[in-house]
Amino acid sequence: MSENIIEAKDLRIFYGMNEAVKGVSFKIKKGEVTAVIGPSGCGKSTVLRSFNRMNDFISNIKITGGLSFEGDEIYGPKMDPAVIRRDIGMVFQRPNPFPKSIYKNIVWGPKINGYKHNWDELVEKALRRAALWDEVKDRLHDSALDLSGGQQQRLCIARTIAMSPKVILMDEPCSALDPKATARIEDLIGELKKRYTIVTVTHNMQQAARISDETAFFYEGELIEFGNTNELFTNPKEKRTEDYITGRFG
Ligand SMILES: Nc1ncnc2c1ncn2[C@@H]1O[C@H](COP(=O)(O)OP(=O)(O)OP(=O)(O)O)[C@@H](O)[C@H]1O
Ligand SMILES: [Mg+2]
Repeated sequence: MSENIIEAKDLRIFYGMNEAVKGVSFKIKKGEVTAVIGPSGCGKSTVLRSFNRMNDFISNIKITGGLSFEGDEIYGPKMDPAVIRRDIGMVFQRPNPFPKSIYKNIVWGPKINGYKHNWDELVEKALRRAALWDEVKDRLHDSALDLSGGQQQRLCIARTIAMSPKVILMDEPCSALDPKATARIEDLIGELKKRYTIVTVTHNMQQAARISDETAFFYEGELIEFGNTNELFTNPKEKRTEDYITGRFG
């Protein structure tokens, strides 16, 4: 039995008067890939961003209920947002490397965190783990913006890895990529789960079925079903899950 790394209990998230997440409870298992699916606007990104307090920058947001990481309340008074963002890294929909060299993209985060590293070693390790090293090892000091979209996304993953996170959040990491680049990211997720817990939002049902161990289906701010991916896709318990995964709505 694997242990839980993130746990939500009656988690509610409001934007002003709008309750975007309506009292959801779930447990994310350590070392597994969890896919978050559901129609546009159902609260997937809102939930994901609450895990590492990326929502802190939104002015009218209110979060209630329990949300813990390794047993510590993420919104508790003792939690340091900088620490949670280091432990829980995030990769976004659109690759967003800094307009700097490949090398500097990777060392930037650890440097501002005051780490003392063998920088060359750190860069190589992160790029190898992100399956990008062979393609860029001879051009580490070229601009990251010269890379292809798929390479830029793997660089963003490498940048996250360089911070030694425990969890990597991905919000539709492949939606701006072509099928070939998408397949590479999917393969990479399979590799990364050996070391990191991964939570990924996807609109692509086949992708969720291929890459994840567990799947969470959200609908209009509610968590309709959460469980083993195979079971959820082959034998959904809820009618709304079945309708969604068979493409009858959403
Ligand atoms: N910064 C914000 N301020 C106000 N409302 C917001 C904000 N971000 C999201 N919302 C609202 O919260 C609800 C959930 O949005 P969220 O972005 O979490 O959905 P999503 O499931 O990620 O959708 P998509 O698949 O389109 O990315 C929506 O009604 C959205 O309009
Ligand atoms: Mg979203």
